[in-house]
Amino acid sequence: MANKEPQQIDLFHRRVLKAKPFLKWAGGKGQLLPEIEKRLPKKIKNTRKVDNYVEPFVGGGAVFFYLNNNYTIKKATLIDNNKELIIGYKVIQNNPQELIEQLRSIERQYLKKSSTERERFYYEQRDKYNKQMRDFDYQHYSEEWIKRAVYLIFLNRTCYNGLFRQNSKGEFNVPMGRYKNPTICDAKNILEVHESLKKATIICGDFSEAEQYITQDSFVYFDPPYRPLSNTANFTDYSNAGFTDEEQKRLAAFYKKMDKRGAFLMLSNSDPKNEDPNDDFFDKLYAEFNIQRVKAKRAISCKGTGRGEITELLITNY
Ligand SMILES: C[S@@+](CC[C@H](N)C(=O)[O-])C[C@H]1O[C@@H](n2cnc3c(N)ncnc32)[C@H](O)[C@@H]1O
Repeated sequence: MANKEPQQIDLFHRRVLKAKPFLKWAGGKGQLLPEIEKRLPKKIKNTRKVDNYVEPFVGGGAVFFYLNNNYTIKKATLIDNNKELIIGYKVIQNNPQELIEQLRSIERQYLKKSSTERERFYYEQRDKYNKQMRDFDYQHYSEEWIKRAVYLIFLNRTCYNGLFRQNSKGEFNVPMGRYKNPTICDAKNILEVHESLKKATIICGDFSEAEQYITQDSFVYFDPPYRPLSNTANFTDYSNAGFTDEEQKRLAAFYKKMDKRGAFLMLSNSDPKNEDPNDDFFDKLYAEFNIQRVKAKRAISCKGTGRGEITELLITNY
């Protein structure tokens, strides 16, 4: 150990940290990681360091956790406009032990129930979670946030498909899943996520708030809600306000502005050419940048029918 180069020592320590997303989140980038890694800016690949990482649509954070496990991130800013998700991040950042205790307790209660009792319990929790939303104080951090994060993680771990989906009123509306032995409290991962978040500023807000954190040389990874691949796909899994073509254009304008600032930018999106070879919406929007099409597997319609190989877009300014 004593004769190791500083970089080797660093890598040795990093390998110990294995944080992964604490929620299953629609649009998680787990399977695109090798393609993303191949296209990281040269400076990051060579030094294995990221001085300032900014992720304006963090979701489950698959890319942030992966990079943080394998590279040295000095400073990170993670943004998302889903306030329930951000409660989860802030509670893990501030009160991991209390969260673990409460999750252990709900896990104990749940696992010893019969399947009928589990069903009743699940819908009771879902109901309480939705009712609490009406007068919950999302502005000021408090003990109540820990309880709300417990509901969030419990529901995410026990609901159908493990997804977080809200209806137009913002209510969590996923039915119960049928897992025999779900892990509701993954204490080890919560502690590792807590470690990873020590260097992070976590913000609930619009992607444009990233502007004040993006400096020359920052690395910014944008993963906005996908532009639906088919006209019929009504993809509103993340929040009740859809990310329309107008929003995609507003984002492209922001990307251009940050490009001028000198930051390294990477953006992913669905490729409309999978469905309509003449649809060059993104090709036009990002014409002056480096647009690459990478292979991916995912459900291409909201009904989950067309699973198969499709391409996704990775757009960099370097
Ligand atoms: C494709 S997901 C990100 C998935 C993430 N990369 C992962 O691996 O889990 C898009 C995220 O953008 C968030 N979002 C939607 N509109 C936004 C906006 N205007 N500003 C910031 N975040 C937004 C959603 O809440 C969602 O979490």
